[in-house]
Amino acid sequence: MCSDTTIKDDWPGYSLDLFNYPAHYCGDLDCVIIPHGVIMDRTERLARNIMDDLGDHDIVVLCVLKGGYQFCADLVERIKALSRNSSHTIPMRVHFIRLRSYLNDQSTKDLHILGAEDLSFLAGKNVLIVEGIVGTGKTMETLLKHVQAFRPKMIKVAGLLVKRVQHSLACVPDYVGFEIPDRFVVGYALDYNEYFRDLNHICVISESGKKKYKV
Ligand code: HPA
Ligand code: MG
Repeated sequence: MCSDTTIKDDWPGYSLDLFNYPAHYCGDLDCVIIPHGVIMDRTERLARNIMDDLGDHDIVVLCVLKGGYQFCADLVERIKALSRNSSHTIPMRVHFIRLRSYLNDQSTKDLHILGAEDLSFLAGKNVLIVEGIVGTGKTMETLLKHVQAFRPKMIKVAGLLVKRVQHSLACVPDYVGFEIPDRFVVGYALDYNEYFRDLNHICVISESGKKKYKV
């Protein structure tokens, strides 16, 4: 039975030869793990689930930069489309915050939050936090605590990807695009030291790719 969006550990992915991708990344990737079209189709469905839950009240979307920008942009587009085609529409704001915790492929302890100093406009609103990937869940846990202090009506988290890590996640998103194996992935705005954001598909980085762009 196929009843969830879990990508199994033994899933080899698609060969890069089957898709178009920028030639400057030739040799830097192992496989395509989620093609761009599949991401878009899944995003459309998440938008519907989100509107069913949050569509009763003004929404503030909190986009977590940089890795969440593409998912957020596409998700907001889908939500707008639903809103356009419905007699029942709700105002939506989009706000950007920036978090940084990764160096190479490792999560570092210190988390920097930028653009989150005064979030008092969140009071009484339905807040949707949008993340590209939830790795350990610690980033999200810290952010949730920060946002809760501004007393929104409701907070939901949408994560395109959630990693299947050994320790249980500190925080699991309410809306998950795909659960993926614990491998370092790039593309669709997810980076490795700022590279690969200009790749449409979600791919697994190769060992030589890691070496090439190491800082
Ligand atoms: N790729 C890019 N950014 C990340 C990842 C990943 O696999 N995990 C946590 N941040
Ligand atoms: Mg990053």
